[in-house]
Amino acid sequence: MIPWKIHGRAEVPGNGPDLVLYSRGEEFSIRVSGTELMNSRVYAREDELSKLGCARVRERKKARVLIGGLGMGFSLITALDNLNPDAEVVIAELVPGVVKWNRDVFGHLAGHPLNDRRTTLREADVCSVIRERKNAFDAILLDVDNGPEGLTRQSNDWLYSDTGIAYARDALRPDGLLGYWSAGPDRDFVRRLHRASLLVEEVEVRAQGRGRGARTTLWFAKRYGRS
Ligand SMILES: C[S@@+](CC[C@H](N)C(=O)[O-])C[C@H]1O[C@@H](n2cnc3c(N)ncnc32)[C@H](O)[C@@H]1O
Repeated sequence: MIPWKIHGRAEVPGNGPDLVLYSRGEEFSIRVSGTELMNSRVYAREDELSKLGCARVRERKKARVLIGGLGMGFSLITALDNLNPDAEVVIAELVPGVVKWNRDVFGHLAGHPLNDRRTTLREADVCSVIRERKNAFDAILLDVDNGPEGLTRQSNDWLYSDTGIAYARDALRPDGLLGYWSAGPDRDFVRRLHRASLLVEEVEVRAQGRGRGARTTLWFAKRYGRS
């Protein structure tokens, strides 16, 4: 078997540990403190968050979707594949090194979705993008971390807090949708979504699709009208 080798490191703004990119042949792995955050062979989870999330808003005129973060670009390409030509996908990525790896190292794996004319890249913390404007997105899909129990940086906990959920809800257009990926279920987080008056759907998906790989959890939380 080909051994893993370190391909590069990327600094995480704030105090988080570096992201480390490993490769072996055509396979890539991004790890943080030794734990795998992403692997290029295992992307069904991103597919499902994006596929199911975008399917729910596809028919809207000029649908506008925010995705955080970029990772290896699989969520982004799946969103573009599942939205109409008049849609826009804003992709927020915190780590400049990850954007660079997408341009220079593994972008071909997802078909270079940053080059799609419907993509708007924001090299920024998705928390700031959410806070910027109300009534801005038809869907916000979040796969920035391991789920409510963050791994990359502690400040991501804000996204899963009552305050973060309220800001994300207000950043949605009427009848908009929040989507969250998590490594596992989390009852407290579901309670917080309910407390924000959102209608919650929990979906279990297998990490490698077709019934294989670890069980992961998706939540879709819908905003009703302007509530
Ligand atoms: C699990 S990966 C996402 C994988 C992605 N769904 C894909 O299809 O490849 C998490 C990504 O979110 C980024 N990230 C972490 N915290 C973030 C934040 N607060 N704002 C924006 N991006 C963030 C990480 O740098 C990493 O690129």
